[in-house]
Amino acid sequence: MKRRVAILISGRGSNMAALLRAAMQPDFPAEIAVVISNRADAAGLQKAQESGVAVEIIESKPFGKDRAGFEAKLQQALDARGIEIICLAGFMRLFTAEFVQRWYGRMLNIHPSLLPSFPGLDPHGQALRAGVKLSGATVHFVIPETDAGPIVMQGAVVVRDNDTPDTLSTRILGVEHRIYPEALKLLAKDLVRLEDGLCRTSSVERADHSLIWPMVS
Ligand code: GRF
Repeated sequence: MKRRVAILISGRGSNMAALLRAAMQPDFPAEIAVVISNRADAAGLQKAQESGVAVEIIESKPFGKDRAGFEAKLQQALDARGIEIICLAGFMRLFTAEFVQRWYGRMLNIHPSLLPSFPGLDPHGQALRAGVKLSGATVHFVIPETDAGPIVMQGAVVVRDNDTPDTLSTRILGVEHRIYPEALKLLAKDLVRLEDGLCRTSSVERADHSLIWPMVS
């Protein structure tokens, strides 16, 4: 049985699209049962509708600071569709600790840096200002602290001297679209387990070679 997944978005939805594409493969271990947006104007909604997946809009704005009120409505929608795993994909609303606790080990997020470096806003600018030579993207389980939580998968890219936040973000996005479906696959196949707050992986089949940058020859 495929695991039933909800993707939560607030914006562009390119990671959502990557997950939807991956889940179209017959042997993918999860099915995207619904895409939920907390904003009616999220650009990703159109992509979702075109793909034929079920789409729901649950606007968070009317709830203001009443996070629990919004989450109760969200939880209802998730229950109604028998959702087992949540993938946050550019979802710009913080959850209460209670909601996060309820979904601990079953809710993933993606962030465009090699966490724990550069959490929060403007991760690409943070990476450039720090002068790191490698950056990347991280898929992690969600905990109450923002952009923290057990790391499931990371992918790295080189950072060039002439990079801008835009060029770096484009390069990292390519990696995001590769690792998010892979991380969901691991979770859906029960190949990851949480041990003492860390994520461990069974049956890893191959490793890419090391990435060293810059090199003169
Ligand atoms: C991505 O960079 C993701 O890592 C971050 O928000 C951005 C969402 O982009 N959490 P998209 O909506 O998936 O295109």
